[in-house]
Amino acid sequence: MSTATTPAPKPTAVSKEQAEAVFAKGLEGIIAGETAICSIEQGGLWYRGYEIHDLAQNATFEEVAFLLLEGHKPSASELSRFKAEVIAERPLHPAVTSFIESMGGYLASGRAVPMDILRSAISILGHTDPDCQDNSGPANLRKSKRLLAKIPTIIGHMQNVIDGKAIIGRELGGDPTIDHAANLLYLMTGQKPAKEYARVIDVSLILYAEHDYNASTFTSRVIAGTLSDMHGAVSGGVAALKGSLHGGANEMAMEMLKEIMHDVGEKGIGTKAVDDWMHKAFDTKRKLMGFGHRVYKNGDHRAPILHKLGRNIATSDAKNPGGHPAIKWFELGEQVQKIMLDKKTIHPNVDFPCGMTYFTMGIPVPQYTPIFVASRITGWAAHIIEQHANNRLIRPLSKYTGEAPRKWNG
Ligand SMILES: CC(C)(COP(=O)(O)OP(=O)(O)OC[C@H]1O[C@@H](n2cnc3c(N)ncnc32)[C@H](O)[C@@H]1OP(=O)(O)O)[C@@H](O)C(=O)NCCC(=O)NCCS
Repeated sequence: MSTATTPAPKPTAVSKEQAEAVFAKGLEGIIAGETAICSIEQGGLWYRGYEIHDLAQNATFEEVAFLLLEGHKPSASELSRFKAEVIAERPLHPAVTSFIESMGGYLASGRAVPMDILRSAISILGHTDPDCQDNSGPANLRKSKRLLAKIPTIIGHMQNVIDGKAIIGRELGGDPTIDHAANLLYLMTGQKPAKEYARVIDVSLILYAEHDYNASTFTSRVIAGTLSDMHGAVSGGVAALKGSLHGGANEMAMEMLKEIMHDVGEKGIGTKAVDDWMHKAFDTKRKLMGFGHRVYKNGDHRAPILHKLGRNIATSDAKNPGGHPAIKWFELGEQVQKIMLDKKTIHPNVDFPCGMTYFTMGIPVPQYTPIFVASRITGWAAHIIEQHANNRLIRPLSKYTGEAPRKWNG
């Protein structure tokens, strides 16, 4: 007969009582991990210590991408090396291009949306990446740069397929002589954009690049925390970002404005018709897309930056993608913002001006969230690298609300 006694259970770091005391639905207000990449609070937004207004005014997206991925502000030579590396990685493996082409019918009919095709294309990129199964820091950095380079190419090729055009920049992933933001527009349209347009996209990419433990980044970190690979973690991030409560809100915000414009007519802007529309929305408890934020309750630092740039483009440009002079969208949006603030004290988040800005620039609405991905890949990748470098499995508890223990045959 064995004399061994049952070992005492190992104490857990946190007792059940302590865990229950800090429970919050949606993890609201809970610190779920550490990061040195980004700090966000009502008072400001900083990427590795640099404040967002400073970056939007003085940096380029490539510089911000370097800052997030490599950890410091690039020197001139580091930046040119980084840009050359990213440009060289722009073309897609033929397997990815063929996949996008094969999805043409689904994309054109709207049965498959660009965010879903992008998510699958990123998975296929993983299969063709020589470092796919290597989670070391250097391999993760190489994969990050490849993803950064190739996501705009995927977006461009998808748009070409939707438009029934030949693939633009198939061999080179666009035009190697132009910067990241300009190349994204070029890949989608075949036109090299005006400098002001490229800069507006560049700033929007800076604003969208990183936002600490938001839902998609947290998803990516949970996946990376199991020691799964970067492409898997990024695919999960894309799936999380697609939702309308997260990145999908930039598309939904524009769809909502189009709906208001349709219902009140151009002549209704500035009149009580918009108030009536909004009050109906309040009465039915409708969520107004592009408003509110889990962390910023008194306004999103990024929103006024993009609003101003978008408004400038709309003012200087007679472009008319929705059948109305472009500035009308901002006039309507500003009225909606004012009503939300006056009646609900809810501020717009960055997705609200993003919708109006991209629409003014003639970018098709279903590509707004994929463009968000083209930016947020830098934040996700930085977090995946950080998670792998100092890993602990992310495995929270839950508060059980089900049946008391009972017998199957009882
Ligand atoms: C982002 C979001 C999910 C944050 O949610 P949250 O932190 O749970 O929101 P809050 O707890 O601050 O909400 C407080 C109240 O404001 C309401 N509210 C918040 N955002 C709202 C919105 N966009 N439209 C209408 N009401 C809103 C909530 O319903 C809640 O009302 P209640 O007290 O009557 O229940 C939420 O604001 C939202 O759904 N926004 C629209 C989607 C969006 O733009 N997402 C992008 C975020 S960057």
